[in-house]
Amino acid sequence: MLIDSHAHIDDDRFDADRDEVLARASAAGVDLIVNIGADMASSARSVALAERYPQVYATVGMHPHDAKDMQEQDYQQLVRWASHPRVVAIGEIGLDYHYDLSPRPVQQEVFLRQLDIARQTGKPFVVHEREAHADTFEIIRSTAKGLEGVFHCFSGSVETARQYLKLGYYISIAGPVTFPKSAKTKEVARYVPLDRLLVETDSPYLTPQAYRGRRNEPAHVRLVAEEIAALRELSLAELARATSENACRLFRIPAV
Ligand code: NI
Repeated sequence: MLIDSHAHIDDDRFDADRDEVLARASAAGVDLIVNIGADMASSARSVALAERYPQVYATVGMHPHDAKDMQEQDYQQLVRWASHPRVVAIGEIGLDYHYDLSPRPVQQEVFLRQLDIARQTGKPFVVHEREAHADTFEIIRSTAKGLEGVFHCFSGSVETARQYLKLGYYISIAGPVTFPKSAKTKEVARYVPLDRLLVETDSPYLTPQAYRGRRNEPAHVRLVAEEIAALRELSLAELARATSENACRLFRIPAV
């Protein structure tokens, strides 16, 4: 059994064949999918998918790209969604200084306030961080004490991973670990303790090497898991069991 801990199957690129995509995931041994909200509209779609499909759980949150659009009432909506039994985390939230689609002070404010919501509602968080490690780490270190969370599509160094692991967080690895040139991510995939590692697709993005250039989908989390299992000299079953247990523990999903 595998869990795709981060996917966006609410994306309109899945509108034509979402049922087939979910069937292919099941056939590949991907029993659960955590669908991630990235703005208010996709958070609403995420909750709707979790209500419709028993194998889908939802998260809700505002991505740093769209932080500039965050309204006061949106925070209240996130709090309301967080009490939904199939909403398992606040996210994806964080900082993205690569694209800088929202002003950095706004990204920081919206990130902080959503971490507050995680605390207030007792939910873990899902962080997106790109080229913003110093500020992300400082915000997490200073304000997220006692919270649980995962750093998704981790692309940092072993040293950065070590800092987050030391604070008790999880690291999630996505399709780029299968790219021949991703030496740093392969090193991180070997380094993270087996009880802190998650796997994900970030579908429809970050397609693994074997299907690169095409739409990604949750079934392909198996390719991520196979790559990491090979790097760690484990069987796929061992890697799948550990990462699924970790996802269930973090997101408080009853074991399936
Ligand atoms: Ni994502």
